[in-house]
Amino acid sequence: MSSCSVVSKTRSICVICATCGWPLLSPLDFEVVRSILAPAMMREPFSRFNRHYDQFMVKYVDYKGWVDYVVRVFGHFHSDPKTILDLACGTGIPTLMLARRGYRMTGVDRSPEMLAVLESKRGNLPVTTIHSDIRDFTVPEPLETAICLYDSMNYLLTEDDLVRCFRCARAAVVAGGLFVFDMNTVFGLAEHWGTRVSWSQSCCHIE
Ligand SMILES: C[S@@+](CC[C@H](N)C(=O)[O-])C[C@H]1O[C@@H](n2cnc3c(N)ncnc32)[C@H](O)[C@@H]1O
Repeated sequence: MSSCSVVSKTRSICVICATCGWPLLSPLDFEVVRSILAPAMMREPFSRFNRHYDQFMVKYVDYKGWVDYVVRVFGHFHSDPKTILDLACGTGIPTLMLARRGYRMTGVDRSPEMLAVLESKRGNLPVTTIHSDIRDFTVPEPLETAICLYDSMNYLLTEDDLVRCFRCARAAVVAGGLFVFDMNTVFGLAEHWGTRVSWSQSCCHIE
């Protein structure tokens, strides 16, 4: 997965489908792409996909398995959180599953459209949402643990972005709390997503 726009030294860009990883465009010169695509779509691929996200994802993703696994990770580290911060929560499929299991959830996402879907499903579950970028957010009070699922961390394309997110997560979680997240590796992108990946010391190119 990645709504990935990797700008290399030559400023080439690749746009692949936010969820399935299918290339929407071959690498083209950045200026050309920018002039063709609507700027909003470039900035926020989920602004249109939100309505179809759940229907599409539940066919392919074993969310229950993911949630079971995350809870097992908590246990592995002898952690028994009651409050969980879900970074890049999207439409909240795992967020709401965890809420149904009794956790008090706070979801952060930068897409208002994805958050709107979450809100429409929330009912009386103990879920709060924060419309924010995961590189730059604060929470009203620290939570006991943080998660970021379904390789949403892969949306952060530079080390600086990752550090900014980690700093925010650190500040949002109590001392000793966990931050559990998954990421696609270069191997995973190449082998499982069928994307062409090359790696240099300074940059990972994903086509
Ligand atoms: C593939 S979805 C995953 C959603 C959810 N975690 C799940 O497992 O279904 C990726 C989400 O990351 C969000 N996202 C990407 N970059 C972000 C950023 N910098 N700050 C906040 N949210 C971001 C998108 O808006 C989208 O909702």
